[in-house]
Amino acid sequence: MSVIEIEGDAPLKGRVTAAGSKNGALLLMAAAILADGPLTLSNVPDVRDVRTLAELLRQLGLRVSAKQPGVYEFEVEDESRREATYDLVSEMRASVCVLGPLVARRGSALVARPGGCRIGPRPIDIHLRGLRALGAVVEEKEGKVIVGPSHLKGCEMDLAGPHGPTVTGTGNVMCAAALAEGRTILHNAAAEPEIQDLAYLLNDMGARISGIGASTLVIDGVPSLHGAQREVIPDRIEAGTFMIAAAITGGDVLLEKVSWEHMGATVETLRRIGVSVERELFGCRVTVPGGPDARLTAADIVTAPYPGPATDVQAPFSALLCLAAGQSRVTDTIFPDRFTHVDELNRLGANIRMLDAGRALIEGVDHLSGAPVHAPDLRACAALILAGLAAQGVTRIFDPEHIDRGYDRIEEKLTALGARIRRTET
Ligand code: EPZ
Repeated sequence: MSVIEIEGDAPLKGRVTAAGSKNGALLLMAAAILADGPLTLSNVPDVRDVRTLAELLRQLGLRVSAKQPGVYEFEVEDESRREATYDLVSEMRASVCVLGPLVARRGSALVARPGGCRIGPRPIDIHLRGLRALGAVVEEKEGKVIVGPSHLKGCEMDLAGPHGPTVTGTGNVMCAAALAEGRTILHNAAAEPEIQDLAYLLNDMGARISGIGASTLVIDGVPSLHGAQREVIPDRIEAGTFMIAAAITGGDVLLEKVSWEHMGATVETLRRIGVSVERELFGCRVTVPGGPDARLTAADIVTAPYPGPATDVQAPFSALLCLAAGQSRVTDTIFPDRFTHVDELNRLGANIRMLDAGRALIEGVDHLSGAPVHAPDLRACAALILAGLAAQGVTRIFDPEHIDRGYDRIEEKLTALGARIRRTET
């Protein structure tokens, strides 16, 4: 069993480069199913979710080859295989993003339903509603989604759900509509940078998508899509995590290869908390005026679909607010159950309590103290690492493997910034 051990209270200093977006890479990889010809992606992060999806694509008859570090080539070789099995889908819910491409390109699909996870239920009703609206014959049984032979025809639809748009749902429906007959209009589509980048890639492959970046997308179906090349956008969640790492340790960090235009809500929230974030030529510099002994300012955060505060940095921000003077209220409107980090942060001396479903009250404390904690999921693990970096004494994080799903060599990058962090086998 492995443990991440952190001796905290060391201000981070230096420069770090943001990796390619995990969630962006997954959506672009799934689009390879649609292509007549090779799709080459660069700046692909070396994280477990990418390796899991690469394995699933191989299962679905694609050749996936690593051309050089971070560069993968995908090409369809065998279209007879249509089943995304439970063992891989259960390992990563994002595997569901092969559903739309399979239906569009092969006319049918069999995908195990993604299970729920620690951040809450992960329904796919909007995905299926959208595919059915395009004419897909969809059956759900025995934990599987079975799409029978379908001829897809464009239509107008609304993708809104009770918690706003769906990112992978928009990806699935957009991919299916790209090869459907006629025009599709998607209202309340997700507009996350990762979805925008998928739309740009599909257009590079010959699709006809307009309205990119807005909540209404217009897609005119085409008979086929060819291969393309694209660089994965920087990971705005990893970048946000490192900005918070600089802030929580009172350090001075230069983040490089950050997409400034994608960081608006994160930067605005950091500034409200009293952190200085200054744009640099190829990224940004994060410091805390007054240095490591300065007290940060409490702030309320309400997550929202892009361009609002991202749910994926909610747990990391909650860790930071544990040390801010005053009361902060953190509300996750997208995943109301996404507070598995609360009990663990409280073990480090934080003072957080749940007000009601989806809303936490954080009373700032003047320091955290190292202790053994357990990582329940990917972003909660990131929050515990951040808290450990600031805590006095040693923090030991059990079940740290979650972090490898979404961060490429995080210990190595933090060590380069002066963190005292290592992973050991017990
Ligand atoms: C994507 O998940 C991301 N994953 C998540 O990042 C991210 O937290 C989420 O979008 C929200 O931004 C990938 O892109 C691979 P949703 P996704 O469908 O698409 C509800 C991480 O940590 N909903 O946008 O699965 C749903 O329950 C991961 O990197 C329905 O009700 O999320 C949620 O409340 C975690 N019906 C809300 O919508 C549906 O059919 C947003 O979910 C689909 C979703």
